[in-house]
Amino acid sequence: MKIKKAVIPAAGLGTRMLPISKGVCKEMLPITDRPAMQYLVEEAVGAGITDILIITARGKEVMENYFDYSPDYEGALLKKGKESECAELRRIAEMANITFLRQKEARGLGHAVLCAKSFVGDEPFLVLYGDDIILSEKPTALSMCELYEEFGRGVLASQTVSEEDIRRYSSLKIEPIRDQVFAVSDMVEKPQTKEARFSCQSILGRALLPPSIFDILEKTEPGAGGEIQLTDAMRVLAQTEGMLAYEFEGTRYDMGSKLGFLTANVTQGVLHPECGEEFKAFLKEFAKTL
Ligand code: UTP
Repeated sequence: MKIKKAVIPAAGLGTRMLPISKGVCKEMLPITDRPAMQYLVEEAVGAGITDILIITARGKEVMENYFDYSPDYEGALLKKGKESECAELRRIAEMANITFLRQKEARGLGHAVLCAKSFVGDEPFLVLYGDDIILSEKPTALSMCELYEEFGRGVLASQTVSEEDIRRYSSLKIEPIRDQVFAVSDMVEKPQTKEARFSCQSILGRALLPPSIFDILEKTEPGAGGEIQLTDAMRVLAQTEGMLAYEFEGTRYDMGSKLGFLTANVTQGVLHPECGEEFKAFLKEFAKTL
């Protein structure tokens, strides 16, 4: 079955990015000149997704405006003869059927996904965490969709993280199937000790889920931090239907953390076609002063 729908939860408070997240939501923070959310939408579109639901919240209207037409900018650009810049703004607005739904309270990632139940209906769907950018030659979401089509099971994007980091992420119980693909039979969120974890393979930023996740989410009690955790529901899915983990290649940036935001801008800034070379020269000089 072709995967056509994606959900991007972007209603969290972003407390790790305060105070900026009070004024600009972290999902709209830029990597040079494009907001994180545009990267996510582009990845989903690159995987064949046509319909995207962004879970939003009070104060995050900037996301809706960004994916709308912008007659003021388009008019001003055309007056200056900047046709290609104008076309780029249109392209952003027309990339996919994007709709928005408000999560009225930040009750956790699992609750945000549950808000998408009527949008999703009875189909498998992709979840892209709103602050997690993955840059790779082939879109990670596309590889995940292909795996779902092949195996008919939920798929998690994963990578090996350090023993230190696994304490902040989720740990997967895995058996190898083939290169980059594992069967997942269990998982645990934020294991604090070596004994509590299954492996250092962790879910990072993407999940492709069957619609049966909604029945599980409806029964999921608040977990860590008093929030309804998506991992708790996916754990039940892994234990009953089984899931897969796809160990993606590429670079991941956590735009919800200060270090992730800075790293993304430095490493991608030097590649920017307009200012990359000058930025690189600046960095080389600057590095000498460190
Ligand atoms: P995070 O846990 O990284 O987001 O969730 P957060 O809660 O905003 O972060 P901190 O810890 O306070 O800094 C991953 C994604 O899920 C969304 C977030 O917006 C983010 O893009 N999310 C999280 C929701 O949509 N609703 C929620 O209730 C929680």
